[in-house]
Order: sequence, then structure tokens, then C-alpha cells
Amino acid sequence: MTWGAAIHPHLHGLGLSATLAVQERSDTLAREGRRIYRLGLGQSPFPVPESVVAALRQNAEKKDYLPVRGLPALREAVADYLARRLGAPFSPDQILIAPGSKELMFLLQVAFDGELFIPTPAWVSYGPQAHIMGKRPRFLPTRAEDGWRLAPEALDELCRREPDGPRLLILNYPSNPTGTTYPAEHLAALAEVARRHRMIVLSDEIYAELHFGAAHVSIAHYYPEATIVSTGLSKWCGAGGWRLGVFAIPPALVKLRDTMAAIASETYTTTSAPIQYAAVSAFRGGMELERYLGRARRILGALTRACEAQLAGAGARVEPAAGGFYLFPDFAAQADALATRSIDDGAALCGHLLDEAGVACLPGSAFGRPAGELTVRLSLVNFDGARALAAAEQAGEAAIDGQFLAAHCPDVLVAVGRVAALVRGEPLPERVDELPPRPQALASASSQARLHNVTLLSPDSRSDRS
Ligand SMILES: Cc1ncc(COP(=O)(O)O)c(C=O)c1O
Repeated sequence: MTWGAAIHPHLHGLGLSATLAVQERSDTLAREGRRIYRLGLGQSPFPVPESVVAALRQNAEKKDYLPVRGLPALREAVADYLARRLGAPFSPDQILIAPGSKELMFLLQVAFDGELFIPTPAWVSYGPQAHIMGKRPRFLPTRAEDGWRLAPEALDELCRREPDGPRLLILNYPSNPTGTTYPAEHLAALAEVARRHRMIVLSDEIYAELHFGAAHVSIAHYYPEATIVSTGLSKWCGAGGWRLGVFAIPPALVKLRDTMAAIASETYTTTSAPIQYAAVSAFRGGMELERYLGRARRILGALTRACEAQLAGAGARVEPAAGGFYLFPDFAAQADALATRSIDDGAALCGHLLDEAGVACLPGSAFGRPAGELTVRLSLVNFDGARALAAAEQAGEAAIDGQFLAAHCPDVLVAVGRVAALVRGEPLPERVDELPPRPQALASASSQARLHNVTLLSPDSRSDRS
């Protein structure tokens, strides 16, 4: 007998999550003295807002176990937040708090018995979590020309072909890995299909607050009876390492909620008490947080536009991102030229990008795309977010232009420039002033940045959401 026999057969070969694996490989290369541009890990570049850090300090002595479903004051703050920010009405009783939304998703996978639908490209962990539970999710490929959005007709057709039974659809918008999102009318159409086929929707809205136009809309608005909203502190509050995630579960799914809570009680017990107390101030919001978010959105929006322009200049197809900090270019148009250098798929392209250009990023196959596709996810986070936020505050409203980005996000610009240059077989830039001039891109970045201060919530008053 080998020691491997002590592992469930279906878990043989299960590796580290793709994002963590690329981070580890980048660390190894950096230790060997290589200059690495880290566009692999999806971690917020911004610090946790000062008022939320202060709340954590004040609560450091909180040491008692808290209720498994979460601190009551936090559940109240989250319910208010969801109503205020997403127009999604949930009572505190419907909120579950956990150490990360990833953990909640896993609890859901443990508790849920039925068909799981995952549109691709999809966040790296939905599929593996199902696999750990011995389930086979249905992956629903989407297309770049549709903005990587799931077509309601495709979902409807699939449901009609399948036997009836419990179904769970995972939607994630703004999306990791594509940055694209769903317009309100598209969500309304998906809601109609979901209602017709009695599907549960897990709506992963962890990037909602980083919608560049502050105009995120939730499908819960159109399908309140069976939408579970998922969010947390990791992205908009820069607190991934604090581990705090939230699910809002509608009353019809109370049994699912209670089963998840029961599993939580037998596994992690509760979420860290000081973090929960600090999270109350984050979800209550206020002027400081609004200013923080406004600046974060303007920086990310301008940076994204500038990077999109660089990639488009290299002939990539890249769908305009609406929020978050990712781009998902497709280099299919360069396939022939790349093949002459033995770059036949996304994994090979990422290998060359890391080894030759020092740019860490992930192939589309990590997000459920076909291995042969030349898609790549770039995380535009390799910059000092604290410095950039301070500079944005100093500079005032209209200042997120090419010069600002060159001063505060140079490594991201150079890294994306290196991706573009490697694909075109050109010399790799080392500095921002070696990038091909793209005045239009930078001008458009600054005009986009001016749009980013809108605050609005009524889905009916929004037009530009994708
Ligand atoms: C789309 C998406 N959903 C969920 C998560 C999990 O976030 P957390 O467990 O930190 O709440 C992430 C983190 O990268 C993500 O990108």
C-alpha cells in the first residue's frame, strides 16, 4: 500500500488553486533575482481604509466565540448595506457571515444537492470546489463578442433539454477574470429564465463596489425570491487577508441557510471576533469610505482603459471592463505568428510571459476556457495603492491621466507593454517612457476617470453598465 491510497481517488492530482500556484512560482523566480511583474494574483492594491483599521484596533480584545451565523450588529449593518448599495432587501436574519465568501460557497456546495451551472470564463474556485464534493458542474461557455455574458436564450434552452430538478446557477459580475458585467436588462432577462426553471442563483457580487461608474445592479432586484447575494471585504475594502465574507439568503431558502450554518458550526465554528466587529464600520460606510471608493474606482478605471488600449494596439481582442481589476485579452489573431515560436495555447503563452518577460499571469484554461485558447487573465494590481490613493486625493478630480498613471502605476503599464511587445515579437520595454505612445488611450483614460464619481442606485436610472 502507498500513502497515496489514503486519499479519496477523485482528489488525486488536486493542485493548489491556480492563482496561489502562480504566486508561489513568481516568488521563487524573484528569490533568484528575477524582476517579476505580478499580474497573477487578484488582490486589491489598496490598503484597508483607516477608519476600518481603527475599528479593528479598538476591538482587538474581543475574544469570545460569536454566533455561528455572525455578530448580530454586523448582520444588521450588512442588511442595511445591501438595501442601500444594491437595492437588495434582506433582513439581518437572512445574512450569514464566514471567514471569506469562498468558504460560504464551499458550504453551499456541501449542502446543495442538484445540477450546478457555471458560465465560463469563471472564477478559478467554483469548479474545483464542486470537484472536491465529487460533483460534475455544467460549464456554459460564453463568447467574447457577447462581452463574456451568459445569453438568457442559451440558459433557457439548456434547462429545457435537461430533466427537472434542483438547479444552481453561479453568476459573477463585475467578473473575475473578464472585468465585464451585466446590463440591468440582461439581468432581468436571466431572472425571467431562472424563475421559469425554478433555479437558485448564486450572485457573486464581490466586485460590485469597484464598478468604475459606481453603477452596479444586482440580479436580486429582479429575482429576489431565489437569489443568494455573495460579497465580502476582500476586494472593495482591500482586506482579503482579514477573511470576511457574506451571503444574503432569501427566506424561501431558509433550510439551505440552516444547513450551511449547521455545517459551519461543525467546522470553523465562527468568524474571527475582532474582524467581525471591525467589519460593522466598513458596512455602515460613511464619507471617508465613499471618498476612498471614489478614488479607487477612478484609478482602476483609468488604468484599465490605458491597458486595454495597449493590448488593442498589439492586436488583442479585449472586451472593455466595467469594474474590478482584471482584463481578459484574447490573442487569437496572433495565433499563426505565436505558433512559429511554439506558443500554441494560453498556458504556453503564460509560460513565455513569465520566463522571458517576467510577467506573471494566468491562462484562460485556469478559468474553464478550452486549453487551446490564447486568452490570458491580467490582474492590474502591481502598484502601491496607498501612494496612488494619497496622490489622487492631493490631485483632486480630473487628474487621473496618463501622467498620473505613469507616476503611480508604472509597473502595470510596463508589464502590459511587455505582454504586448512579447506577442508582437518586439523588444521588451523596461520603463514607461519606452512604451509606444498612445495619446488617445491616455486621453480616453482621463475622460473615463471623470465619469467615475456618479453615485446612483436605482437600476431603472442606469444606462451604461457594461
Ligand atoms: C469572483 C470571486 N469570488 C469570490 C472570491 C473569494 O473572496 P473571499 O473568499 O476573499 O471573500 C474571489 C477572490 O478572489 C473572487 O475573485
